Amino acid sequence: MTAIIAVMNHKGGVGKTTTSLNIASGIAAGGNTVLIVDMDPQSNAATGLGIDIKAIEKGSYELVLGEDTLESVALETDIPNVSLVPATFQLAALSTISSDDEDPEYWLHESLKDQGKDYDFILIDCPPSFGILSLNALVAAQKVIVPVQSESFAIAGLQQMEQSIADIRIEAAHDLDYRILMTLSDQSQKLHQLVDHEIRAHFKHQVLQTPIPVEPKIAESAFLGRPVILHSPNSRGAQAYIQACGEVLEWAHPDQRSVSDHMHAIQQGVQNWLSDKNVKRSGHPVHLKNKDPLTAPTQPIQPQNEEINSFKVSLRNGVILALALTAGMALAFLGME
Ligand SMILES: Nc1ncnc2c1ncn2[C@@H]1O[C@H](COP(=O)(O)OP(=O)(O)OP(=O)(O)O)[C@@H](O)[C@H]1O
Ligand SMILES: [Mg+2]
Repeated sequence: MTAIIAVMNHKGGVGKTTTSLNIASGIAAGGNTVLIVDMDPQSNAATGLGIDIKAIEKGSYELVLGEDTLESVALETDIPNVSLVPATFQLAALSTISSDDEDPEYWLHESLKDQGKDYDFILIDCPPSFGILSLNALVAAQKVIVPVQSESFAIAGLQQMEQSIADIRIEAAHDLDYRILMTLSDQSQKLHQLVDHEIRAHFKHQVLQTPIPVEPKIAESAFLGRPVILHSPNSRGAQAYIQACGEVLEWAHPDQRSVSDHMHAIQQGVQNWLSDKNVKRSGHPVHLKNKDPLTAPTQPIQPQNEEINSFKVSLRNGVILALALTAGMALAFLGME
């Protein structure tokens, strides 16, 4: 059965995309087929896998609306057994769906429930907000990984997340389970130690044992379009993600293998990738478009005629409205006298 896991936290920059890509790659190295669905209009999952976002024409927007099949929007990546449904900026338009639409929070679930069966795992990278996109991910998933950065507002944010998961359990009547993953952790900092201790004391076994350290190799690997297990397999960051993958696999398939069995299988898989010449250890670094940056204009901008006309119309309408309101108020005032 396909395990569908949403990677979600409404806070920005806590490591959701980094976790989606690295957990997906680790699980794939362990011998599973994995699909990543990017539900964030920022399209960072494609960039983190070395895919040029300018070349992407369709993706999760068309999948969610049922306009295209999963097969036609899923891209193969350079990472063996990892496919991606990329996000395009159009996805942001889903936030403005009309209230007449029927059960819009079930659209991703409907698209994945039959078509996703070919994958062992589907990871959904969520945007940093509680909107319709995240709601679709939570309804489609059976499990949620919540990456949390050890900082002052993390605890309050986690309680909101817990409430959202509880609401979905009731409203969508499904047993959504979650695990917290401590990310960007720097145990040399007192604040990180305190927040980590508080979260583990409160959420107990809902927190994965492995913290992901702040590790330059992790940030570097995203820039190069590769998971850290390929870019720098012996780094602390790679070892932490392998251990976290072992925990996720044991959680997703209890009663099968232990965390250390899974870790061993992943390490073996990574060794096979490293000795395979077809598996590229580095993608293309992110480049800016080859054009001059936007600077302050040297000449005042002259609006087009149409713009001047529409501005004049708006101005005229504004003046008429203001006069009408003043006249109305004056009449009302006289009426009261
Ligand atoms: N463990 C880490 N060590 C060092 N840098 C990291 C680590 N995890 C993530 N980063 C870097 O932190 C930044 C934010 O990470 P990421 O994009 O994964 O967060 P996010 O939660 O997906 O952000 P958003 O909310 O914008 O989608 C990125 O530049 C990433 O490379
Ligand atoms: Mg992200």
